[in-house]
Amino acid sequence: MSSSEDRLVSLVQGPSRWHSIEHVPTATSTNELAKQRTEAGTPPGLVVIADTQTEGRGRAGRSWQDQPGGGLLVSVTSRIPRGDATLVPLAAGLAVADAVRRQGLHVALKWPNDVLVNGRKLAGVLVERLDTALVIGIGIDVDWRAVDRAGQLAEWTSIAEEAGRDVDRWDVLTDVLRSLDAWLCDVDEGDAERLLAQYQLDCATIGARVTVTTPAGDVVEGRAVGLDATGALGVDTERGPIAVIAGDVTLG
Ligand code: BTN
Repeated sequence: MSSSEDRLVSLVQGPSRWHSIEHVPTATSTNELAKQRTEAGTPPGLVVIADTQTEGRGRAGRSWQDQPGGGLLVSVTSRIPRGDATLVPLAAGLAVADAVRRQGLHVALKWPNDVLVNGRKLAGVLVERLDTALVIGIGIDVDWRAVDRAGQLAEWTSIAEEAGRDVDRWDVLTDVLRSLDAWLCDVDEGDAERLLAQYQLDCATIGARVTVTTPAGDVVEGRAVGLDATGALGVDTERGPIAVIAGDVTLG
């Protein structure tokens, strides 16, 4: 076992919320597999990883494409927090940002939880709520150096492309899990001040002119000014301030 896999195993065997890891070569979706395990009685704290997904899910009903072996496709389960569950996607975005930063890169978050390096997306988060737990799905493009970046893929990047070197995905995963555990503790305890402050520091959306398309199809245009206590994005518009709970943001 490599030393980075050792770090992962010690994290799971040590005092964290993560109690076991299931690594499969292929899943339809790790979120789906984590859901099935939870419904079959596995308690929160499970980590499910796949090398590739056949039906990877993105936000807003989109699909999530991967390069087999070139990314981290992981879903974790966590108990429903006492504090505001709407902060969980932000906590996951922060955890990914922390892990990518530890690879030596400058990271920005695009609300609610896209992780960008040099303005290009390399990770996303999809949180799904079950009766007894949350499934937090995280996709990180780790090494897509073999991919032709023409066309739409030009808006995306991967850690290895940005860092210009090989990247150990187990190292990245360990850092994500360690950081996510800590941020979730804050959410769990209803103590979101530190999380909201860090998020606003890391977030490229705040202070920018934005166009937000909500799940209902409404379009909100204005200047993003900050987050409220639930993680909703405050936008100053010509019609006055609006708090957006969910949506896709275009900057500029
Ligand atoms: C987004 O649209 O930005 C969110 C993408 C989330 C993708 C991850 S990959 C692992 C987990 N399993 C899924 O099916 N989706 C999430």
